[in-house]
Amino acid sequence: MRNQQILLAARPSGAIKPSDFKLVDAPMPVPGTGEVLVEVHYLAVEPAMKGWMEARVDYVAPVEIDSVMRGPGAGVVIASNDPDLPEGTPVTGQLGWQRYVVSDGNSVPLRKLPQGIPLPLALNVLGITGLTAYFGMLDIGAPGEGDTVLVSGAAGATGSVAGQLARIQGARVIGIAGGAEKCSWLVDELGFDGAINYKAEDTAARVKALCPQGVNVYFDNVGGDILDIALAHLADGARVVLCGGISRYNESGPIPGPVNYFNLVYRRARMEGFIVLDYQERFGQAVRALSDWLQSGQLHSRETVLQGFSQLPQALMGLFDGNNIGKQLVEVDR
Ligand SMILES: NC(=O)c1ccc[n+]([C@@H]2O[C@H](COP(=O)([O-])OP(=O)(O)OC[C@H]3O[C@@H](n4cnc5c(N)ncnc54)[C@H](OP(=O)(O)O)[C@@H]3O)[C@@H](O)[C@H]2O)c1
Repeated sequence: MRNQQILLAARPSGAIKPSDFKLVDAPMPVPGTGEVLVEVHYLAVEPAMKGWMEARVDYVAPVEIDSVMRGPGAGVVIASNDPDLPEGTPVTGQLGWQRYVVSDGNSVPLRKLPQGIPLPLALNVLGITGLTAYFGMLDIGAPGEGDTVLVSGAAGATGSVAGQLARIQGARVIGIAGGAEKCSWLVDELGFDGAINYKAEDTAARVKALCPQGVNVYFDNVGGDILDIALAHLADGARVVLCGGISRYNESGPIPGPVNYFNLVYRRARMEGFIVLDYQERFGQAVRALSDWLQSGQLHSRETVLQGFSQLPQALMGLFDGNNIGKQLVEVDR
C-alpha cells in the first residue's frame, strides 16, 4: 500500500489548468490512539472548488498552496483505534485528494454511513449535492402545484435533483442544459416537462414558449446570460434561487450583475442566495426525505465516474466543459 496526494501547486488564473496541481507520493499514514485509517474509494468534484483554489470565497478557508486539495470523498475504515468507527465502516467527509487519510474524527470530520449504502450515492443525492438541491429548491424556491419552475445547469448534479424535487411538489419543470443527450435524459428519464439546449437553441425564445405564464421559480446554477433571460420571464411573485454561477467562475475581477434585475420590482419578485452549510442542523431530516424519494422511485440519481486517482484534475476541469451528466466522481484505483 502506498499513499499518493494531489496538492494545489498554483492558484488558477482564468480556467483551471493541470499545472495548478501536483501529484506526489506521500508517507502511508498510521493511525494513533483514538484514530482511524480510511481508504478513499471515491472523490467528488464540484465547481465551487475553483473558489477554494483561488482564495476568492470567504464562506470556507482557501486551500493553501502545497497542501492537499480539499474535496469530499467516501471510503472505508481499514484500521481502527476508535470503537465507534470499527474496521469496515463506510464513511464520508472532506477526505481530500489522497488515497489514504487518518482522522481522530475531528481532524477530518467523518460521517458514518449505513452499511450497504452505495458510496457514490453518499456523495450525490444523499450528500451535499442532494442537500443543496433540497434546501435551495424547497426552502427558498418553495414550488407548489401549478407553478412553472425553470432550472439551469439542469443535467448537472444539483440541477438534476432540484428539478426532480420541484416535480415531486407538483410543479411543471423546465430544464436548461448543454446538449441534446442531456435534454433527452431530463425529459425521458427524470420526468421534466421540457428541456432547452442552450448551446443549440435560442434560449430566450424557448423560455418564452415553454413558460407562457412566466417563471414562478428559477433555480440558478450558472448566472450570466441565462440568469438574465430568466429574470426577463418572471411571473408575479416569483422566487429566484441563487445557487451558483459557473458561467462566470473563470472571469477575473468582480462578477457583473444581471441587466434585467429591475424586473424583480415589476414582478414583485424575490432573489435569494444561500450556502448549504448553513442548514447543517436539518441535514438529517433532509437525508431521510431524499432517501424516501429514492426508495419510492420518485427521485433518480446518476453519476459520471472517471476511473483513476490521477484523473481528479481532469474531472474538475471537465465540469466547466459540461463533461458530466449528474454528479461527477472519480473512483480511486486500488
Ligand atoms: N450555494 C451552495 O451552497 C452550493 C452548493 C453546491 C454547489 N453550488 C453551485 O451549484 C452549481 C452546480 O454545482 P454542481 O456541483 O451540481 O455542478 P454540476 O452542475 O454537476 O456541473 C457543472 C455544470 O455546469 C454547466 N456549465 C459549465 N459551464 C457553463 C456555462 N458557461 N454556462 C452554463 N452552464 C455551464 C455544465 O453543464 P452544461 O453541459 O449544461 O453546460 C456542467 O455540467 C455550481 O454553480 C456550484 O458552485 C452551490
